[in-house]
Amino acid sequence: MSSDNKGMRKGLTSYGDSGFSLFLRKAFIKGAGYTDDALDRRIVGIVDTGSAYNPCHGNSAQLIEAVKRGVMLSGGLPMDFPVISIHESFASPTSMFLRNLMSMDVEEMIRAQPMDAVVLIGGCDKTVPALLMGAASAGLPAIQLVTGAMLTGSHDGVRVGACTDCRRYWARFRAQEIDEDEVARVNNQLVASVGTCSVMGTASTMACVVEALGMMLPGGASPPAVTADRIRIAERSGATAVAMANSQLTPARIMSAEAFENALRVLLAIGGSTNGIIHLTAIAGRLGIKLDLDRLDALGRDTPVLVDLKPSGLYYMEDFHKAGGMPALLRELRPLLHLDVLTVTGRTLGEELDGAVAGFPQEVIRTLAHPIYPQGGIAVLRGNLAPAGALIKQSAADPKLFEREGRAVVFESLDDLAARIDAPDLDVTADDFLVLQNAGPKSGYAMPEAGYLPIPTKLSRAGVKDMVRISDARMSGTAFGAIVLHVSPEAAIGGPLALVKNGDRIRLSVSARKLELLVDEAELARRRSAHRPREVDSKLRAERGYAKLYMQSVLQAEDGCDFDFLRKAS
Ligand code: FES
Repeated sequence: MSSDNKGMRKGLTSYGDSGFSLFLRKAFIKGAGYTDDALDRRIVGIVDTGSAYNPCHGNSAQLIEAVKRGVMLSGGLPMDFPVISIHESFASPTSMFLRNLMSMDVEEMIRAQPMDAVVLIGGCDKTVPALLMGAASAGLPAIQLVTGAMLTGSHDGVRVGACTDCRRYWARFRAQEIDEDEVARVNNQLVASVGTCSVMGTASTMACVVEALGMMLPGGASPPAVTADRIRIAERSGATAVAMANSQLTPARIMSAEAFENALRVLLAIGGSTNGIIHLTAIAGRLGIKLDLDRLDALGRDTPVLVDLKPSGLYYMEDFHKAGGMPALLRELRPLLHLDVLTVTGRTLGEELDGAVAGFPQEVIRTLAHPIYPQGGIAVLRGNLAPAGALIKQSAADPKLFEREGRAVVFESLDDLAARIDAPDLDVTADDFLVLQNAGPKSGYAMPEAGYLPIPTKLSRAGVKDMVRISDARMSGTAFGAIVLHVSPEAAIGGPLALVKNGDRIRLSVSARKLELLVDEAELARRRSAHRPREVDSKLRAERGYAKLYMQSVLQAEDGCDFDFLRKAS
């Protein structure tokens, strides 16, 4: 065994005798059949987020096998280990509630176990940010590998994929345009294989921005889950991790302020998920870097949307991959990027782009001269209704709704929304603004993806497809609509959103980046002093355990909804 403090010698268990600690550790691991030669190598940990509850990670076993091959071909010893796995549809009350817990699990297991570098395997929405938050805090060389997107399916000759089409078909079912038989048939086709959602939802967004951050191999974001390209990326990620262990290429050296700016550029250019802003903010916060919403908005004004994927555009992730994936997009965005930032390869982004294969004619990734949308996908709104900011995904909404004033139709909570949205006597018209209160981080619902409020049935049956909706909730990256979300401060902590009443007038101006509640200040002051916080849902009232920690510590959207005690001081 080498005498340096690497591999099996790292982080010895405390028995008061380090020699005995190493002796005991080796005795136990030899029970699994390891030789001294194997135990003398650099160790690459592999985070296993496979779970029967997580079909987005259904190829984890194959990926781990390929990563191990890459590690061993490069002379390292691979050691895979489990952490929490979170799937969007299998996490109650929300996956967001568990993201920070997963990040703590990742950080502590990287710290606790002997390893010199780590391969982070994730994919479903919250897993990639949780892995990177944990790895950033742990400080060990780390490389991200995503599970990759699922394939698309076919329903009655129409190409479909999760989850933009899930919402589209459900909206058609609610509007009685399709019957129960058809909605059941399409349910079999929406998710055609294992892997992450096939559109530019949060999972695909995070994959792309993490490649832009430099934490993933070039070309690693787009290969679908079931392809040979995905397996090859896994093998190469294992080999790269060994090199990173040798060169001590840590997350802090890669994820600089400039790298985060590149990631924001890419998020805007792909028409990416609003959730990506929260997650990037949280990852940056672990390194003491503050992502500023006003800077995001400024970047958005000169970053056009170039990628024609649903929900902003037409295509799916497998098309993005065939069109050249992230290297093709980054090459197009080159004049807007910081090129001297480091990547996991040890080379700069500029060097990687110099070495990338040449482009070819295709329709999925546009040029700067011919964008899908002239500005970035997301705009930041401010005003007396959102003093700390709110977002609208302008590339995935009808611009006819961007400059208008409307009457507020208020729902006090998700339960209130569920109880009344389809009531025949609901006083609502297509010109009204639907307002949902108490769905933010501290609401007791843990900021669900409820910002995509359903169109009231009586309006959807009359043909209304979109209307202005405002909330402190989040929205799935796969959703489409004039949806203002992440309103901050949230209603549950007494933000101005809590003061909105039925019949109030609200003005939205995306061009002026404004969200104003048109109620005079004296009346708002009166409402503020009379306001009493709503009792939170019993599930998160949180007398004990993780829920208590969450409710005590979770921050607002503009701080990434991380826990206050996990961020690094700037
Ligand atoms: Fe896992 Fe969409 S539900 S990526």
